[in-house]
Amino acid sequence: MLSTLGFHHITLVASDARRTLAFYHDVLGLRLVKQTVNFDDPGAYHLYFGDETGAPGTIVTFFEWAQAPRGRYGVGGVHHLAFSVPTYEALLKWKRRLTDLGMPVSGPMPRGYFTSLYFRDPDGQVLEIATAGPGYTLDEPIEALGRGVMQQKDSQLPGGRNEALIAATTHPEPVPGITPDMVLTGLHHITGMTDDIERASDFYEQALGLKLVKKTINQDDPDTPHWFWANYEGTRVLPGSAWTLFGWSPRHPKARGGIGQTHHVAFRAKDATEQLAWREHLLSIGLEVSPVMDRQYFQSIYFSAPDGQLLEIATDGPGFAVDEPVATLGESLKLPAWLEPHRAAIEGELGPLK
Ligand SMILES: [Fe+2]
Ligand SMILES: [Fe+2]
Repeated sequence: MLSTLGFHHITLVASDARRTLAFYHDVLGLRLVKQTVNFDDPGAYHLYFGDETGAPGTIVTFFEWAQAPRGRYGVGGVHHLAFSVPTYEALLKWKRRLTDLGMPVSGPMPRGYFTSLYFRDPDGQVLEIATAGPGYTLDEPIEALGRGVMQQKDSQLPGGRNEALIAATTHPEPVPGITPDMVLTGLHHITGMTDDIERASDFYEQALGLKLVKKTINQDDPDTPHWFWANYEGTRVLPGSAWTLFGWSPRHPKARGGIGQTHHVAFRAKDATEQLAWREHLLSIGLEVSPVMDRQYFQSIYFSAPDGQLLEIATDGPGFAVDEPVATLGESLKLPAWLEPHRAAIEGELGPLK
């Protein structure tokens, strides 16, 4: 049985590549690991952010589509993405840093399995920073995660939460720079919305080999479910693999793609051989799957979940060092061989990034 190791990357739509760079690099401290164009729309920037090398599970990418309509979250879309920090202290430092920069931040919100901050990127995408622990074994043993519906403490829910204390809690000193303990270590989880959570559960288990690790309630809307899936075999939950969904009613509107919304979520295949096996597997369960596409830094296939969420499976390699040294990743515009003859026209259309 194939089982993805978790997220490869998530791709969002941005209205202004320069502003996106200023936010994700200058404010959040992610590295720009590739400056290229959308291979299906070469007049648009495609920026990749990640850790030092752009390792799978740390990558957030943006298509710059200034003329796109404004997106709206909804069924079949992503609600937010969460970055991981190791400690609660690091979380408080992030709150202080972001609020001192004039950004509204909510939290530290106690979620039981982790503690979270919420804020928005310049296009309105909801972002979260979450502590790595204590994790999903808080209320179930590691060998039996996801078996029952877990209730949450009143002190974590609307009405019972001490909102005044949460609002007042922050790091006591200004945090003008990102200290080593604050470095965002990758995707903690990504959360979407679906209109049939049982169907979604069957789908993500069957299609991607993820396992249900937590059935609980949406702690901001306790009458609705919030389920978590991950790469899990009974002994550990692999970091960077937690896909979660809010269970909304079919009355909720569908997600509308566009600025400030996620375009697609990509999961990992180890290599090209495993990707072909994934493709066969997805076809065998009746899904429509794209051919393998050469994305220069990885190979991709695309398909959709029953609620409409666009998904991708991308290979771990060859990675971002395939066309420039690790030391200078992201410093200049890179084009694949088939677009290189059009460089002058493409650069003219894009305008400078820095
Ligand atoms: Fe979250
Ligand atoms: Fe992608």
